[in-house]
Amino acid sequence: MPANPALRDYLLTRRSVGIAFLKEPGPNASELEQILTIGTRVPDHGKITPWRLIVIEGEARVQAGERLAGIFARNNPGIDEASIEIERQRFLPAPLTIGVISSPKPHPKVPEFEQLLSAGNVAFNLLHAAFALGFGASWVTRWYTFDAEAAAMLGVGAGERFVGFVHIGTPTTTLEDRPRPALSEIVSHWGLDQQ
Ligand SMILES: Cc1cc2nc3c(=O)[nH]c(=O)nc-3n(C[C@H](O)[C@H](O)[C@H](O)COP(=O)(O)O)c2cc1C
Repeated sequence: MPANPALRDYLLTRRSVGIAFLKEPGPNASELEQILTIGTRVPDHGKITPWRLIVIEGEARVQAGERLAGIFARNNPGIDEASIEIERQRFLPAPLTIGVISSPKPHPKVPEFEQLLSAGNVAFNLLHAAFALGFGASWVTRWYTFDAEAAAMLGVGAGERFVGFVHIGTPTTTLEDRPRPALSEIVSHWGLDQQ
């Protein structure tokens, strides 16, 4: 494989764009297909496809937010209207969100742990795909990843779980990078630095 300086530079500088800074336009149908195709081109031990995706776009964003707000209000009696409104807006303003579901399959050689990691790769690869097409994107989980009723409402089935939601849109701002860990703090060389 030839060296690819553009890809290297992208990987050295890539960073997420916060979901509040993602606006229209979002990917069109053909761009979305490319994003989904790239996103699902990930390592997958045993080729068992232990993940699936739910696209939330257009009017569905408003309906999903309404349902989410309903669950949130029921779970938090007496909560103020401003907090409920935040839930109503969860899939706005980003034009498009892709829920990534870990959907492990029983397999004699591939533990669920590996299948979960593969699903995480899908989420990260969706970010790469969005950036490659000129969009901004962010991977978040939020409470509804961990709340059984909300996750089911958003599309998970029995034995499944969300690994997160990738929000995609046109960035309205250029963000400063965030601090990155010093390699000296996280990398050691077996046999040299360890006893
Ligand atoms: C699995 C996972 C879940 C996350 N969930 C949230 C979240 O719910 N809310 C949030 O503000 N950030 C969340 N983040 C962090 C955002 O993705 C954040 O923008 C990210 O740290 C930016 O990293 P980057 O600039 O290297 O892309 C999550 C990250 C990961 C990997």
